This record gives sequence, C-alpha cells and structure tokens, in this order.
Amino acid sequence: MVVALDGPAASGKGTLARKLAEAFNLAHLDTGALYRSVAVMVLRSGIPENDEDAVAATIAQMGAGSIPERELRSEAAGRIASVVAAMPKVRAALLAFQREFAASPPAGKEGAVLDGRDIGTVVCPQADVKFFVTASVEERARRRHAELQSRGESITYEAVLADLKDRDARDRSRAEAPLKQAEDAVLLDTTELDIEAAFRQAVDVIARRKGMGVSASPARP
Ligand code: CDP
Repeated sequence: MVVALDGPAASGKGTLARKLAEAFNLAHLDTGALYRSVAVMVLRSGIPENDEDAVAATIAQMGAGSIPERELRSEAAGRIASVVAAMPKVRAALLAFQREFAASPPAGKEGAVLDGRDIGTVVCPQADVKFFVTASVEERARRRHAELQSRGESITYEAVLADLKDRDARDRSRAEAPLKQAEDAVLLDTTELDIEAAFRQAVDVIARRKGMGVSASPARP
C-alpha cells in the first residue's frame, strides 16, 4: 500500500505520516528532508543558491554523513529548500530515489507513506490513498514558530508568517511539480483539528480503502 501526503509547510503532514506509518506498518519517507539536505549542502558550501548546475552537483555528495536535526529543520534550510526545489535538475536527481522507496519499502513493511508537495501528483500518481493536508497560514505559522522556539531558534512569529507565505507562493507557482491537491486526494484541513483528530480521520479513510481491496498492492509510480 502506498499513501501519499501532500500539503504546505507546517500543515501537520509530517506528524500524521509518522503516526500512519506506525499504525499500518508502513515505511515513512519525509521527502522534504531530501530538499532540506540539499539546502544544507548549499548553506555549508557557500555555493550561490541560484546556480542550478552547482546545486544539482552537490546531490552526488549527499548521504555521506547525517545532518544534525537542528540544522536540517532550521528556518534557513526550509527557505533555501523551497528555492532549490524549484530547479528541474534538483527534482530530477531526487525523483528516482523517492519512487524506488515507494516501490520497494524495507523488508517487513507493508508499504510506504511519503509526505511532501508532489507525491500524489508526480512521485506516486498511482498511490492507493492520497491526502492533501492543509491549515490556515496563521495557524501553520503559530505551529512552526513554537517548533522553532522549542529548538532554541530565536525568530518572531511575524518573520515565520512572512517566510511561510513566501514559501507557499514559491511552491505553488513553480513550473515543475508545483504544490497542488491531486484530483483524487482527500482534503484534510487541520486548522481546527488536533493531531489525534486528524489521525483518526485519516485512519478511517485508509481502513475504508483497505476494505475495498486496495491493500498490499505494489507501488505503481
Ligand atoms: O517542514 P516543512 O513543512 O517546512 O517543509 P518540508 O516538507 O521540510 O519541505 C521543505 C521544502 O522542500 C518545501 O518548501 C518545498 O519547496 C520542498 N519540497 C518539494 O518541493 N517537494 C517535496 N516533495 C517536498 C518538499
């Protein structure tokens, strides 16, 4: 079974993906972390963030050492991630890995759940279940601000809100794999839902689909 979870920044899709992975014994891939890793390479090496060839070339050097969570989840890495994510060469370099993960999850798993921006539309258009997870931009900024503060990053709510608006606009308007709801995705608006309530709704949808016989089908990316 392949579950696709797409949505804008800080909509709650990452937490939801982790909980669904546990509940249905699925392998989880946070695809945003791939783009964030590229961003960290750019920040560390000092190459210009708009040099597509140079940015794409850093991908070959990735994976050697793990990146500390604080660096990966920083506001700067998120911002640069959405800049490099608009580059066709960067997206192409990361696509095969994501499809391979969905098609052949690790042994013992019954499938995969991938969260990102283009999972239901580009990476796994044949996913068995697709969700588009969203929330108002103010609520998302409140969540992301709390998250960054708890990690010791000093940033104002207003700065986080402005960054999310910028990032949403960039992710939605890019030519390549823009953020958008797949036609067959179930919309989950978490503005007024806590994580448990969102999780219960998603579990109901997946359980109904499994009951209709879509479980254990291989990925058809
Ligand atoms: O954690 P947050 O919700 O802020 O974002 P993320 O999922 O870590 O993704 C960071 C950035 O990577 C996004 O703003 C997108 O521009 C990009 N991304 C993408 O283009 N396609 C994906 N499948 C996942 C992330």
